[in-house]
Amino acid sequence: MKLFDVYSLYNVEPVRGCGNYVYDAEGTKYLDLYGGHAVISIGHAHPHYVKAISEQVGKLGFYSNSVENSLQTRLAEKLGRISGYDDYSLFLCNSGAEANENALKLASFHSGERKVLCFSKAFHGRTSGAVSATDNPSIQAPFNRTDAVEFVPLNDLAAVEAKLAEGGFCAVLIEGIQGVAGIHTPSDDFMRGLREVTEHYGVSLILDEIQSGYGRTGVFFAHQWAGIRPDIITCAKGIANGFPMGAVLISPKYEAKKGMLGTTFGGNHLACAAAIAVLDIVESEGLIENARNVGNYLIEQLRQMPALKQVRGRGLMIGIEIEGSAAELRKQLLFERHIFTGGAGATTVRLLPALTIGKAEADIFLNNFKELL
Ligand SMILES: Cc1ncc(COP(=O)(O)O)c(C=O)c1O
Repeated sequence: MKLFDVYSLYNVEPVRGCGNYVYDAEGTKYLDLYGGHAVISIGHAHPHYVKAISEQVGKLGFYSNSVENSLQTRLAEKLGRISGYDDYSLFLCNSGAEANENALKLASFHSGERKVLCFSKAFHGRTSGAVSATDNPSIQAPFNRTDAVEFVPLNDLAAVEAKLAEGGFCAVLIEGIQGVAGIHTPSDDFMRGLREVTEHYGVSLILDEIQSGYGRTGVFFAHQWAGIRPDIITCAKGIANGFPMGAVLISPKYEAKKGMLGTTFGGNHLACAAAIAVLDIVESEGLIENARNVGNYLIEQLRQMPALKQVRGRGLMIGIEIEGSAAELRKQLLFERHIFTGGAGATTVRLLPALTIGKAEADIFLNNFKELL
């Protein structure tokens, strides 16, 4: 059997990782400013993380959601405290798209309405509802096309208000910072306005913090820069440093009913052990503060490079708009300088490193990047 050929691959295979570096089979060392697409939050192969998963798999790797699992409760308590949402409830699943599916179902169950308002260039995942809420017809199969999702421009509060006034909406779904679109940050004023307007119309505000959350922007969730509290928050990616997991944080106003949501693998013992270890490290190593400091440093330094068109983002979620082809520059960074970066569209280089990245590593990137520009 061969692989279903849906991914464009670089001709490189990391076989080992340590901290902010990965290595191929020949031992070539690569600086990782991509974090496997914003997934590596605490660095590769952190000893505390490795120990936690190894010990858990030796005890019990999995049992179903039909029995008690105190690891889930421990994770919920820790996540609630560190994120500032200890009055919310936690539903655990397996991916970002699945977290968004469950968030949308919850909003729709709650209000009895079916329409969802999303934003131009949004990306929310590839499963049925999530891809319908994604502003990219090329990844929607005819089966996914629906009149239940509408799109308005980001930062256009009047457009949001006009849509919600029509009625029939259960939710507004928005990324904390648009990632796949190329790092576009909704303004803090817009986010506050969005909170007011959704409250006014009794529509759930769902924050997709799958890429922008978990400390990446220098606060736990990117929306916290605007000082708002959404009704539902979705997370995945950095939550378990690569162990597949998604999560939905749910305001106390939603009532849980038995059987309303569910999953076989969600919240399994191994995933919870991984996620608890991640939060241990985020806390003990001050990684959110580090993301803010090193992120600000990177952004400031990049903004001093006259060859760049624009530098966008917050903390360690950075989009660098260049004059030429981002794909070409990323290839040079990878094969000539051994630095992994991300991309978004034709002209944006995306930086999504682990929150453990230091200034010295930021400088390695900045020097190489400047030379190649
Ligand atoms: C903002 C956002 N939402 C949802 C997803 C989907 O997550 P997953 O690939 O885990 O389903 C992604 C993935 O890139 C994302 O960036």
